[in-house]
Amino acid sequence: MLSKSLVFVFCLALFAGGSATAQDFEYIGATKCKMCHNKPATGQQYKIWSEGPHANALKSLTSEKAMAIAKEKGIADPSKDASCLKCHSTYARIDQSLNISLKEDEGISCETCHGPGSKYKSNTIMKDQAKSIENGLIVPDEKLCKECHNEESPTYKEFNYAEAVKKIAHPVNAGN
Ligand code: HEC
Ligand code: HEC
Ligand code: HEC
Ligand code: HEC
Repeated sequence: MLSKSLVFVFCLALFAGGSATAQDFEYIGATKCKMCHNKPATGQQYKIWSEGPHANALKSLTSEKAMAIAKEKGIADPSKDASCLKCHSTYARIDQSLNISLKEDEGISCETCHGPGSKYKSNTIMKDQAKSIENGLIVPDEKLCKECHNEESPTYKEFNYAEAVKKIAHPVNAGN
């Protein structure tokens, strides 16, 4: 009897938790965003990202500086070590069962800050912020940045949100 009611409660919990969770949204990778977000007239977000720190975050783990940090910590290859990849690679951060086409070498990719794009990626949804959010879009904030910009980073520099956002700015109207 007890087990039967437990099963019932468990099913209820599953049912309640099953609707509109992050589980519905999958990672499509930056090249998919590029199709619509690389036009000079609307700001070339892809180009700006690819030349910025986040797209190159994985590459940094092969630099001399990275090797020196790793050596001190007894890590053989920082570009393969989970304790570094957790902040330097979107690919390493995500549940691979939700990965449709995000590539391993993307560094910190669009979808870390904007959410997995499989459902919001169409023109009609993207033009409507509320609908985009329903379909997995995340509006990035300071808290999100601090998942990585914190004292656990071996090279931590004080993080000033207002200034940091300016450094990586990629507004839609940049080409105007
Ligand atoms: C089919 C075209 C298309 C694709 C693919 C696409 N977008 Fe968009 N996106 C748009 C359009 C259109 C807008 C509305 C703004 C504009 O007019 O440029 C937009 C707006 C946005 C915004 C601003 C949303 C807001 O209201 O705050 C973000 C952030 C964004 N896109 C990120 C992404 C990311 C990340 C991807 C890839 C996972 C992506 N987009 C893929 C067309 C697209
Ligand atoms: C998933 C981890 C992660 C998140 C989330 C993240 N960053 Fe970063 N960020 C990094 C890493 C790693 C680097 C270093 C890249 C390199 O040089 O290899 C970096 C570098 C930077 C830099 C250049 C270095 C500096 O400190 O001046 C800026 C600016 C920056 N990030 C801003 C932001 C902002 C703003 C947000 C939130 C909107 C954000 N980041 C969210 C991981 C992250
Ligand atoms: C908690 C998140 C986090 C972890 C874990 C992390 N990093 Fe970083 N890393 C960052 C951020 C954020 C930056 C940008 C600079 C800063 O620390 O503010 C960065 C920058 C760097 C840079 C570029 C620094 C420069 O200015 O040239 C190197 C190299 C680096 N990290 C190596 C490593 C190595 C090696 C490991 C693993 C031992 C590691 N990181 C673990 C978040 C992290
Ligand atoms: C480190 C986090 C981070 C990454 C990586 C990132 N963005 Fe953003 N993005 C932001 C922030 C922060 C804003 C500003 C949000 C705001 O103004 O409220 C933004 C704004 C945008 C906007 C809206 C601009 C506007 O003027 O309304 C678009 C479109 C966009 N990003 C697309 C992309 C695409 C495409 C990629 C990958 C090629 C990408 N972003 C990568 C953090 C990020």
